[in-house]
Amino acid sequence: MNFDVRMRGGMDPIENASRDEIGALQLERMRWSLGHAYGNVGHYRSKFDVAGVHPADIRSLSDLAKFPFTDKSDLRDTYPFGMFAVPMRDVVRVHASSGTTGKPTVVGYTRNDIDMWSDVVARSIRAAGVGPDDMMLNAFGYGLFTGGLGFHQGGERLGVTVIPMSGGQTEKQVQLIQDFKPTVISVTPSYILTIADEMTRQGIDPRTTSLKIGLFGAEPWSSPMRREIEERFGIDAIDTYGLSEVIGPGVACECIDTKDGLHVWEDHFYPEIVDPDTGEVLPDGEFGELVLTSLTKEALPIIRYRTRDLTRLLPGTARSMRRIEKVTGRSDDMLIIRGVNVFPTQIEEQLLKNPHLAAQYQLRLTREGHLDQLTIHVELRHEISGTLPRRRIEAIEAEVRHAIKSCIGISTEVRVLEWGGIERTLVGKAKRVVDLRPKD
Ligand code: DLL
Repeated sequence: MNFDVRMRGGMDPIENASRDEIGALQLERMRWSLGHAYGNVGHYRSKFDVAGVHPADIRSLSDLAKFPFTDKSDLRDTYPFGMFAVPMRDVVRVHASSGTTGKPTVVGYTRNDIDMWSDVVARSIRAAGVGPDDMMLNAFGYGLFTGGLGFHQGGERLGVTVIPMSGGQTEKQVQLIQDFKPTVISVTPSYILTIADEMTRQGIDPRTTSLKIGLFGAEPWSSPMRREIEERFGIDAIDTYGLSEVIGPGVACECIDTKDGLHVWEDHFYPEIVDPDTGEVLPDGEFGELVLTSLTKEALPIIRYRTRDLTRLLPGTARSMRRIEKVTGRSDDMLIIRGVNVFPTQIEEQLLKNPHLAAQYQLRLTREGHLDQLTIHVELRHEISGTLPRRRIEAIEAEVRHAIKSCIGISTEVRVLEWGGIERTLVGKAKRVVDLRPKD
């Protein structure tokens, strides 16, 4: 079977192949990938040996469940290049993601890997409704982060005119949007709001720009946040997902026709959903942690990688490949406030229901005695900022406290600030949670 992933007009044939064809291709590639990992990475070989499994045990796709998981600690223990499966002379690029603690996670790519990565990002951008007639302002950060270069090479592969702007320099972003008139922007959902604010400051209505489509990802964002962005700019906002350990952006993407979840490019990445506590594989449709296995990657084959991202698998719609539901939280982002589990995006949803508030917020965790306390800092919308008396602001704070108590079930402190009161993240992912609790 030879499914050429190179672009051919409308769609790669595999995007609409039958489930049987996809399954057969996955099985062939899964055997190759496990054999490649076992044969060339000592770390995998010893983990498989300890678990008593061998790549030859793969008779059906579900046999993958017998193999051990991989997680961030495997990459950390073998830092920097110990999980690479090819000699360094065949590695043409490395990227790294900054861990919250200690050493970064390093990933590597052969020339074929870069080619495949370009293909899957091109496929994602095309699913978002973008084509060679478009110009894309790429505001994802360039450098060790995979967002900038990932979108750059995918855009070029599709024939889009790419503006390699990177993150930051907000005034310049606005200037280029006004002067170059791009039709597409690729950016984190939090940073587009900073761009919108800068436009408003300059007296430009974001709805009047040339932008038609936005590709957003790299951090969780709620459905109300999508509506906010779509309404503020008058664009289609498309969700796009990926992680550096698996490739970077280009693992899964929504289609503009449906916007009903993100199709996983299953010919290169095999998804499973597992119970985050027991590791047991769950049937499609059930919520759990996404686990991904690379099927074609050469430099860094990744077997059953625990993403920590929580979602569920759904059948294909606009494409035959299965979808993941919007990822609204990571298991390690979950806050436990007086015994109640909360994700920052749940708070975001409640804040955006209030017509006075902007999508700029920060959650501050403190400890009083033995109890965790959550204080939410959120800004007023630009249009009304500076116009409300203190009494009115206090009433809004009470409304938000009440909405969060009744919908999520936790008591919080709410501080409504004037517009601009919260520090913006100009490059990289927004810092939504500030943990001020004493370290145990
Ligand atoms: O964020 C790759 C990427 C760049 C994806 C640009 C999309 C656009 P990492 O820095 O390794 O890679 O971070 C990966 O970010 O495990 C998720 O927790 C989160 N994430 C990425 N995309 C989404 C999304 C890039 N669309 C981690 N929705 C992942 C929610 C996302 N979370």
